[in-house]
Order: sequence, then C-alpha cells, then structure tokens
Amino acid sequence: MIETMNSIRNFIVFEGIDGTGTTSQLRLLRERFAAIGKAEKVVFTQEPTDTEIGKLIRKALSKELSLEQKTIAQLFAADRTEHIYGNAGIIEHTANGKAVFSDRYFFSSLAYQGLSVGKSLAKKLNEDFPLPELLFFFDIPVQTSMSRIDKRGLQKEIYEKKDFQTAVRQEYLRIIEEYEKSAPEMQIIRIDAEKDIQEIHQKIWSFVENLPKL
Ligand code: TMP
Repeated sequence: MIETMNSIRNFIVFEGIDGTGTTSQLRLLRERFAAIGKAEKVVFTQEPTDTEIGKLIRKALSKELSLEQKTIAQLFAADRTEHIYGNAGIIEHTANGKAVFSDRYFFSSLAYQGLSVGKSLAKKLNEDFPLPELLFFFDIPVQTSMSRIDKRGLQKEIYEKKDFQTAVRQEYLRIIEEYEKSAPEMQIIRIDAEKDIQEIHQKIWSFVENLPKL
C-alpha cells in the first residue's frame, strides 16, 4: 500500500490479471463515446505505452529481449513517469478537460513486480504516482483467464503462466482491499469478468457516461 496521495479527476484505470477483457471493454467504451459525439472529450491509453520505453518493455515481455526483472520493474516506472507527467501525458489531458482511460497503471506494478522483484522495490518505484479517480478491478478465476489466453493462440508472454497469474490475482485482491479501506478519494468498482461482455459494458457505462466532469 502506498501512502495517501491526491487523486486525478477524470482519470480512470482498468486493472486485472492477464485475460480479463479490459482491452475489449475499453474498445467498447471508446466506440460508445464516439457514437454520442464525445470522442474529442476522452483519451484512451495503456501501459506499457507505445513510446520507445514501452516498446522496450514489450520486447522483454515477449522474450525478444532478455532483461533482469529489476530492470523491467524500473522500465515500467520510467514508462509511467512519462505517461503521467510527460508531454501529452495524463495530467496534461485531464488539465485540458478530458477524461483519460488507461488500460493498467501502477497497481499492475504493485501486483506483478511485487512478486517478480519483491514488494519493497515495487512500492518504492511507484510511491510518487497519483491515484486515479476511478479504478475498475476485473476479477476472474485463473482457469478462465488462462483458457482465454490459450485460445488466442499467440506465443505466451513472460508473466502468462498459471502459477504466476494465480499469485498475481491474490496480490491484486490484497492490494484492492487495502485501497478500499484507506483511499476514499479513489472509487473502486469490482467487475465480475466472467459475465457477458455487454452486461459488463453497461455496468461500466453507468459509472462513466457523464465524464469528463467539470
Ligand atoms: P497487457 O497484456 O495488458 O498489455 O500488459 C502487459 C503485461 O505487462 C501484463 O502481463 C501485465 C504486465 N505489467 C506488469 O507486469 N507491470 C506493469 O506495471 C504493467 C503496466 C504491466
């Protein structure tokens, strides 16, 4: 748990283990905002980002590049620093009155890198990042998420192993509970990611349809 920080208004984060469907839900949201003429008011983004640092991380995830776990943990933090504070970053967009939706944020580092390099380093690298206003936590049994990943038929990334994902899910559950207790400035919404895709979309929409709030 990272000590209380202010939250960024109109900043919304989606989190969960691999294969929970956050990316599909963000696509549906983007389409829905466009359909009601609000495409200009919303920004959709993700971590790792598509910058040079993000590309380096993707290479490490796909095993194209062999890096120490500590290096990967630092790259995630560096990527996030630019994502939040950099040019055309999250703070700049929200300051310009937009709502920003991100597929993953520092909670991913607390959960995944908390396991790969230890909680203390993961926490240290991420202690300066502000909270989002809203956090959607997608939860799913690992059996289901792993079978979704298998069905993609793609080469698996370094963290896409059943035992690791099981441990990551436990970490997330612990982290989410801690923030629920001690960070009232961030609203946390738990999503049952086994439900029908449209049903999940409707639930999320009911929380975000009026964003950005002025
Ligand atoms: P993705 O599958 O959502 O694109 O995420 C890429 C992988 O990177 C996924 O296995 C989660 C992992 N990850 C971390 O380990 N730490 C982080 O800080 C982030 C943002 C992602």
